[in-house]
Amino acid sequence: MNQIQSQLDRVYNFNAGPSVLPVPVLEQVAQEMLCLPGAGVSILELGHRTGPFKKILADTVARLRAMLSIPSDYDVFFVQGGGRLIFSVLPMNFCLPGTVGEYLVTGSWGECAYQEARRCEQGRVVWSGKDSGYSTIPQTRDWSSVNGAYLHYTSNETIEGVQFPADIAALLENAPSLVCDMSSDFMSRPVDVGRYAMIYACIQKNLGPAGATLVIAKREFLERASEKVPGYCRLLNHAEGDLMYNTPPTFCIYVANLVLRWLESTFGDLKQVQQFNQRKVGLVYDALLKRPDLFQLHAHESCRSQMNVTFRLPTPELEKRFLHESESQGLAFLAGHRSVGGMRASLYNAMPIEGAQALAAFVEGFDK
Ligand SMILES: Cc1ncc(COP(=O)(O)O)c(C=O)c1O
Repeated sequence: MNQIQSQLDRVYNFNAGPSVLPVPVLEQVAQEMLCLPGAGVSILELGHRTGPFKKILADTVARLRAMLSIPSDYDVFFVQGGGRLIFSVLPMNFCLPGTVGEYLVTGSWGECAYQEARRCEQGRVVWSGKDSGYSTIPQTRDWSSVNGAYLHYTSNETIEGVQFPADIAALLENAPSLVCDMSSDFMSRPVDVGRYAMIYACIQKNLGPAGATLVIAKREFLERASEKVPGYCRLLNHAEGDLMYNTPPTFCIYVANLVLRWLESTFGDLKQVQQFNQRKVGLVYDALLKRPDLFQLHAHESCRSQMNVTFRLPTPELEKRFLHESESQGLAFLAGHRSVGGMRASLYNAMPIEGAQALAAFVEGFDK
């Protein structure tokens, strides 16, 4: 009875992260909370060096390897500290003295990443969309002659809703090591991992709860870090041995495991996940575009995000009313990031099609 009531109380959660998780995953977590099958205790009480947890960790990594076709010379591991930790440790690990990390800055998160390299005078901006208010992406010619220790970019800028429409790796011929912050579009579409030196993603958007960041990196790249880099910050340390340099975020990894199982059984592969996401986001963009008098999309058409739809209304009063009325209809957390305002609808993998339909209908019916 209580479970049915909670289901009825659930709203459509458009938050940018932590964000919507698949209901079957939440149900399984609830079911197993008192006692994880085979463990005799709950996941919250389970030691990270026990057999049952090691099995969960190994299975999670194996599922990621399979779904993303990760080459065998790549390591896959989880750290804590969020995307922000990776921003800080990138220059520490990979910029040898006298070298710089290069950055394509297409939004606020890319700017934060760059600032961490700048702090130690080892960052260079190759291209920035700041002047356009981060509404566009660079052309290939803007980055094709880079030669830093690595080239960093953010595949999807969560705050501005600006996304590279495809995996840019394929466009780079003699590129330096490509590093991508895939936090907010990870596992939402196929990606050619073998073309990257490193991919990372904080998992609280498409893969699980807050508290873990996934790193996928080529071993050769990780080995560039000197032994002088402090222990936790030296990414190679996390990749070695049993992937337990320190106590891993066990609950996050357990939930990520269930999300991966859900992705496999619901969609099969990432191409199908992408098609599903395109269908959902298409409904919302179409509804917004039908009413240009009322809704202004932030991102240029060429780089509109498939994950985070950002838009404004003509006045702060109308925006306030839009938020108030949408919330009263069970469409929750549509406010834009506090740094930019406006609206943002995040449509991650776990957002059901019904959520996108309800939002599109609300947009179409919204009265001035
Ligand atoms: C694209 C992107 N990168 C990095 C971050 C920062 O992640 P964290 O808050 O886990 O440090 C975020 C957070 O939302 C993000 O969206």
